[in-house]
Amino acid sequence: MGERFNICVLPGDGIGPEVMAEAKKVLARIGERFGVAFGCTEALIGGAAIDATGQALPAETLEAARAADAVLLAAVGGPKWEADPRAPRVEEGLFGIRKGLGLFANLRPVSTYDPLIDASPLKPELVRGADVMIVRELTGGLYFGKRDRLYDVPGAGPDGTPGQYAYDTMEYSEYEVERIVRMAFEIARGRRKRVHSIDKANALGVSRMWREVTRGIAAEYPDVEYRELLVDNAAMQLMLDPLQFDVIVSENTFGDILSDEAAVLCGSLGMLASASMGAGTALYEPVHGSAPDIAGRGIANPIAQILSVEMMLRYSCKMQEAADAIAQAVARVLDEGYRTADLADAATPADMILGTAAMGDKITEYL
Ligand code: IPM
Ligand code: MG
Repeated sequence: MGERFNICVLPGDGIGPEVMAEAKKVLARIGERFGVAFGCTEALIGGAAIDATGQALPAETLEAARAADAVLLAAVGGPKWEADPRAPRVEEGLFGIRKGLGLFANLRPVSTYDPLIDASPLKPELVRGADVMIVRELTGGLYFGKRDRLYDVPGAGPDGTPGQYAYDTMEYSEYEVERIVRMAFEIARGRRKRVHSIDKANALGVSRMWREVTRGIAAEYPDVEYRELLVDNAAMQLMLDPLQFDVIVSENTFGDILSDEAAVLCGSLGMLASASMGAGTALYEPVHGSAPDIAGRGIANPIAQILSVEMMLRYSCKMQEAADAIAQAVARVLDEGYRTADLADAATPADMILGTAAMGDKITEYL
């Protein structure tokens, strides 16, 4: 046996455990084939953690994550934990681990697969060849700024009655902008050398600072083409002309929204993986959520989770060949016409529509 990696596995809620089971199959196969041992330590996060411990991110989970070589997360959340507005929120588990591990950079690659070109509602000639890397700031902005929700505030209700008042604040320090933008330019150097910085500088002070800092960094990368777009226009441009984009960098909320929108290019959110990086342990997770509506039915698409393993092997384990092997196995399965329900259309023969486990098995078989 060669190397050994300690992976902190967080299956979470909803379809999380189902898709994670497939990712673990793939990981086990990679271990065999490349002579590497993957020790998986499972821990609780999200609703599963609230049920067991009362907290969305138990201290042991953060400890296990910090001690690991990489964290593989599935998804958190579900209606069960949303009923009481004053109860702990499952998402706090997600925000807690992002902040706790200092994961300021969320890398969300979106590219098209030729066999899935018709899965996108956009015209094939528009999306074919699209290949975008969204670099989303992950530990600042509205998600982590000053916030409160107050009840019975005088005058806050209709007609001067007492009512609710709530606020979230978009806050950024210069260093937070600088480090994420720098990472975007470094990534662009290894790609097609173009960065679009997305902001709302015509309305927000934070964005005006973001722009100024970003221009300074852009000047240090004369070999990388630098463009600026307002977020509303960027949302439209992504649909009008996605091929113009290489690397997109933006603050937390804009990046969240644009990455779901960009999923339309590749046909399904069930295909998109992400890597979150910072100073310490990196974390890998699908862009999609816990999909409570289809949980437990064995029909969820495990590909985003499996491609999260691919990213983990590439960035944290430095196993390029193994990562390439996963990418190829996924491409082959799709080439041969296999689909999960989210990727199928009226023309897909019923016997080519695979459930979660069958899709995981098929990909593993080609490894
Ligand atoms: C994502 C998700 C989360 C986010 C939700 C579940 C809080 O949408 O990772 O994109 O907004 O960060
Ligand atoms: Mg999102």
